Amino acid sequence: MTNAPAMNVGDIETPAVTILLDRMEANIARAQALMDAHGVDNRPHIKTHKIPAIASMQIAAGASGITCQKLGEVEVFVDAGIADDILVTYNILGEVKTDRLMELSLRVKRLAVVADNEIVLRGLSEAGVRHGRDVPVLIECDGGIGRNGVQTPEAAQALAQMATNLPRIRFEGLMVFPNKGPETAAFMNKALELIRADGIAVPVVSGGGSPALMTLADFPMMTEHRAGTYVYNDLMMVDAGAASLDDCAMHVRATVVSMPTEDRAIIDAGSKVLTRDQYTLSNFGQLVEHPGAVVANCSEEHGMLDLSRAQSKPRIGDIVNVIPNHCCVVSNMVDEVYGVRDGQVETVWPVAARGRVR
Ligand SMILES: Cc1ncc(COP(=O)(O)O)c(C=O)c1O
Repeated sequence: MTNAPAMNVGDIETPAVTILLDRMEANIARAQALMDAHGVDNRPHIKTHKIPAIASMQIAAGASGITCQKLGEVEVFVDAGIADDILVTYNILGEVKTDRLMELSLRVKRLAVVADNEIVLRGLSEAGVRHGRDVPVLIECDGGIGRNGVQTPEAAQALAQMATNLPRIRFEGLMVFPNKGPETAAFMNKALELIRADGIAVPVVSGGGSPALMTLADFPMMTEHRAGTYVYNDLMMVDAGAASLDDCAMHVRATVVSMPTEDRAIIDAGSKVLTRDQYTLSNFGQLVEHPGAVVANCSEEHGMLDLSRAQSKPRIGDIVNVIPNHCCVVSNMVDEVYGVRDGQVETVWPVAARGRVR
């Protein structure tokens, strides 16, 4: 941890992102205990915090490795020396990127990557040949959110066959995001049945998603689980019934800078801190101190509070704490986050992989 000078949370200049350390530590322990109880390896997704010190805490609690989305994140975490088993859950395409992947693979025990199509798979194979090293690969299956992944168990089987035949590809198994429900389980079971019938071993079956931590029992075929959001939690997790407001470790501290009407106040955190991610939600955050008060809209540097249903109202100059909709994107908006315990700033963490989207 980066030691912070003795500082009261009230002294932090706003807007600022704070992490309530007691809550974060409880979130880490709870998820690890759940995965231990189900005999599933824990491979937390670091895109939520982008901070090597927090990944170290997850590993100390029992995680077997980490998940990264982009190679830029892998570079930061490998430089920090905190993990030697990394899965990249993204199609890595083109020589520039596959060369980076191969160079990084020299620095860790295992750097695995996913592929959901033939072009990516062939590119990985060529990179393996260029560098004289095997590339561990999982075939990505569609988790039903309209993103990437092979569309049928038969397509997973075909790519698995291709992976076993291509030079320098080490087929290791299947990956899916998210574990959505019975459809995902049926898809994965069928794909596994087909691939195993071809005599191909499938040592890894990697599931993911924080809400899916509640349904691990429905996915006995998974050997590992990748959750990210659980480390902080946010309003999307609360909306999904997967966390309570008291489990939300990330608070955005903001100052009320204006109160143009009785029911509208303006805070100094807008979309450049909270972002405009909404998914299933209709606002952009809610206030801790004033139940019923929501961030109803935001422009870049202004958060517009709707106080019409608030049980109490802030005044100009007050500092308020906002629970954001989506903690993972908020992490990417700030240079540092403040780790807070009992009203004191215990640590200031640079968000080391902030902006590492390449
Ligand atoms: C491929 C992949 N795995 C795991 C996760 C973690 O999911 P969650 O943020 O719900 O914990 C994500 C999130 O975006 C993801 O894209």
